Amino acid sequence: MNTVQQQQQQQHKINSTLNELYNEAKYDQLRIMKAFANVQNRTMQPNDFKEAYLAITKSQGADLVKLIAQNNLKNIVEFGTSFGISTLFLAQAAIKTEGNIITTELIESKAEKAKENFKKAGVDSFIELRIGNAIETLKNHNKVVDFLLLDGWKDLYLPVFKILEPNFHKGTIIYVDNAEMSDTQAFLKTISKNNKFRLQSKNQGKVVLIHQN
Ligand SMILES: C[S@@+](CC[C@H](N)C(=O)[O-])C[C@H]1O[C@@H](n2cnc3c(N)ncnc32)[C@H](O)[C@@H]1O
Repeated sequence: MNTVQQQQQQQHKINSTLNELYNEAKYDQLRIMKAFANVQNRTMQPNDFKEAYLAITKSQGADLVKLIAQNNLKNIVEFGTSFGISTLFLAQAAIKTEGNIITTELIESKAEKAKENFKKAGVDSFIELRIGNAIETLKNHNKVVDFLLLDGWKDLYLPVFKILEPNFHKGTIIYVDNAEMSDTQAFLKTISKNNKFRLQSKNQGKVVLIHQN
């Protein structure tokens, strides 16, 4: 069990790593513009954004911490690590609930950087980072999922959800980012037809929480 002082030191280390990463992420607009300029006549792929953070906002991060801590959620899974900004917020929450995190990222160079960031923040001991396609890395998952953050490619929200669904339980919360995007809308429409689940819109429709009833 961590003492309050140890927890405070840990949270401080995470916050300073997050500040460094947000400092880097402020050039994302330029990276994204470059990615679009380089790609013509085809759909954008994760590799086109290998330099871009595409991160959740600080206020989303604070909301995540509150949500997980208030509901005492321990077993956390994330689809879409990028450089680890959102994972570090999940780590802040996991320290409070004494939980653990499995996160997965397709682009190896991003995953390696994320690993370094977890070490720097002192949270690598309770984060398992799986490198590869989430459809493969989360296949046959056989551990309870209390909280799932969906923030990878939107057309994979449904297959990732389906892979993990046997591990959900009454009280599982799924945080769906970029809810306004068309692929996410299609995913949410499918889920809303199943009365096992209840949808809650947040942040002017940019986020949807799915609760298992
Ligand atoms: C929006 S970014 C994630 C941002 C991160 N959650 C944050 O807030 O810091 C989406 C990430 O999902 C990754 N991704 C896309 N398709 C994937 C797949 N099939 N499996 C695993 N990761 C994938 C992309 O490479 C990208 O880094």
